[in-house]
Amino acid sequence: MGFSMGLNLVLLLAMVATNILSLYHLSSTLQSPKPPTQQPVPDHLLHQLNTIRATISHLTRHQPPSITPSPTTTKPSIPQDLLLYSHLSPIASSCHNHPDLLHKYMAYTPYSLCPLDSDLLAESLILHGCHPLPRRRCFSKTPPKPPSSLPRNPFPSSFLDSNVIWNKYPSCKSFSCLAKKSPGLGFDLNTEISKFMTYKTELDLPVPQLLQVAKSANSAIRLGIDIGGATGTFAARMKQYNVTVVTTTMNFNVPNNEVVALRGLVPLHVPLQQRLPVFDGVVDLVRCAHAVNRWIPLTMMEFLFYDVDRVLRGGGYLWFDHFFCKRMDLDKVFGPLIGKLGYKKVKWAVGNKTDSSGLKNEEVYLTALLQKPVSK
Ligand SMILES: *[C@@H]1O[C@H](CO)[C@@H](O)[C@H](O)[C@H]1NC(C)=O
Ligand SMILES: *[C@@H]1O[C@H](CO)[C@@H](O)[C@H](O)[C@H]1NC(C)=O
Repeated sequence: MGFSMGLNLVLLLAMVATNILSLYHLSSTLQSPKPPTQQPVPDHLLHQLNTIRATISHLTRHQPPSITPSPTTTKPSIPQDLLLYSHLSPIASSCHNHPDLLHKYMAYTPYSLCPLDSDLLAESLILHGCHPLPRRRCFSKTPPKPPSSLPRNPFPSSFLDSNVIWNKYPSCKSFSCLAKKSPGLGFDLNTEISKFMTYKTELDLPVPQLLQVAKSANSAIRLGIDIGGATGTFAARMKQYNVTVVTTTMNFNVPNNEVVALRGLVPLHVPLQQRLPVFDGVVDLVRCAHAVNRWIPLTMMEFLFYDVDRVLRGGGYLWFDHFFCKRMDLDKVFGPLIGKLGYKKVKWAVGNKTDSSGLKNEEVYLTALLQKPVSK
């Protein structure tokens, strides 16, 4: 199943989340009011990096960062474009927690092609809390044969294959390989589109039923966000009902973002710990997909829920689609956490998670449709 990939994410998130919040306010300390002109700059930045790192260790009593250069003994060269950029815009403090990755990411030749490993580095930094990434002045490589037709269903696999730069992905070099090697990850697009339409167990919420619920509550669903939406199947289905859904998705070594875009949908490359990049009260529906589950540290999950609340309009819907956790924790931890939002329970279905890890860990699934009150 697709879960080993999710685990990577989750472990990274767990590492990041413990300190990301306490660090956030530190980011501004890196900025200096004027771009210094000469040699002292690197030492100055280096000193600040070390101060930040020492503060981090102190605050979190976490394992020390893998690289701890001291300004007197080593002098790693800081890429010129990183220095330049750091005077234009703040850089997230978590970026400085991974100077090795950040320096590698920003070490490139301006005005030429970006280095080939950029995407892996970028995603790795983002997952470590370095988001937004600094901008760069280089050209990203694009597939040699850009799409010449509108997205169709079913997709000819040749159309898809020629629109992905496969050497970024270690395990497969084609969509048929992905569909075979990682069933359930959403790359068999011909079967994907049948999702969200059937009611097999109480944990299912078919789209027609969802829209009916909203309609009978006099609440139009026009715009939604799918959090952790993989290859964008939910958005693709909603598009057929004239509902616009944007999908947040990370790649995890498979071309999720590319596929969402090839389907004519909007992929947002943002991690779960990132503030949703939309204004307050503007969306009608937020769906939390499989990626939102018990692996997310509790405090971070709470911030995620309240950010979802921020973007939902009054009367809008929050849908937990197969959220999973330990059976015990649903009543003690997650139920109360969700309850704090004060939403109306339109649907609340719990069922045993019957795959091997679900049985081993005594996990349950929750599918819940909650409606935000119109006024607080
Ligand atoms: C979506 O919009 C199109 C064009 O306005 C319309 O023809 C179609 O019936 C709509 N589909 C649904 C499911 O509302
Ligand atoms: C779910 O699992 C629990 C504990 O193993 C069991 O008691 C219960 O009967 C199961 N429910 C269903 C519907 O299978």
